[in-house]
Amino acid sequence: MTVRWHRVEAFSDHFARCAVAAGETAVVLAEDDSRPELVETSVVALQRLGAVVSTVVLPTPPNRGPVPIRSTGASVVIAHNPAVVAGLKAAGFIVDCTVEGLLHAEERPALLADGARILMLSNEHPEVFDRVGHDDGMGTRVARGREMLAAASTMRVTSAAGTDLTVDLDGAVVAGSDGTVTAPGGIAHWPGGLVLCFPAAGSTSGTVVMAPGDANLTFKEYVRSPVTCMLEADHVVSVDGEGLDAELFSSYLAAWEEPEAYAVSHVGWGMNHACRWDVLPLYDKGDLNGTELRAFAGNFLWSTGANEVAGRYCRGHFDLPMRNCTVALDGEPVVVEGVLVDELA
Ligand SMILES: [Fe+2]
Repeated sequence: MTVRWHRVEAFSDHFARCAVAAGETAVVLAEDDSRPELVETSVVALQRLGAVVSTVVLPTPPNRGPVPIRSTGASVVIAHNPAVVAGLKAAGFIVDCTVEGLLHAEERPALLADGARILMLSNEHPEVFDRVGHDDGMGTRVARGREMLAAASTMRVTSAAGTDLTVDLDGAVVAGSDGTVTAPGGIAHWPGGLVLCFPAAGSTSGTVVMAPGDANLTFKEYVRSPVTCMLEADHVVSVDGEGLDAELFSSYLAAWEEPEAYAVSHVGWGMNHACRWDVLPLYDKGDLNGTELRAFAGNFLWSTGANEVAGRYCRGHFDLPMRNCTVALDGEPVVVEGVLVDELA
């Protein structure tokens, strides 16, 4: 494989933003199904910075079903292998090139316990990294958004399409990433630009109406006909809509045969101005993980599936970025009809 020099520069610039310096011990974690260009570009980019680099490649485990799994952020490739955990946790910097990513992997606490930091590369077509680049101001804006979310008691989301959702934020755990990680024991995903939280159990109720142009990043498709979800005590209790979209949405949730599949995972909003909502037609599905759509500025991102804060675990996960919503914290909007308020823009 030919490693493109401009990507080596872009990756090494980004790793430098993550405080990688000459002499640092770095590990690139990959699996059989990893995207080779991301792995090889990462290795060369780390070498360019003078890091001491090794690569760990693990077997990609089979998916025993019932349905394909996409974009969970909870890789199972390490499979609690103690030799792998010991090797990775001894590093200073881990570039995570697993397909699903280590963000919610069971081994994550152990990997970070001794001060290693993890940068999860979203499994994107490399061109995405060329386009999205880096926004110097995003770190400050994401930090401000996280502060605002952490200080709030209630999130309310409304839209002209009919969404009216209320999230009690008491006990919620706030997360989010600007795409960089510098602190020992930290983790970030690239591309970044998200502010979100995992609400506590029993906190989310109301109606979500997904309108044409809103996206399902498990299907990697836009909703093309409205899908109306009623939520009670975190769980989707009904899915209605005239078109095929509602039927596909219901069918995937039902495939899991477990109530956790219907429950809310995380809620939040996108902060990245370089990310676009309209790029799905331009990539084959296998070429994209879709973090660009998770992060585009002014979206409302909600999701179903695992939520450790609420004590729920499930392999099924929908990430559902929506346009044109208003997101308010204790009555003060942070996003108005799909546009970030000035303080966060
Ligand atoms: Fe998610």
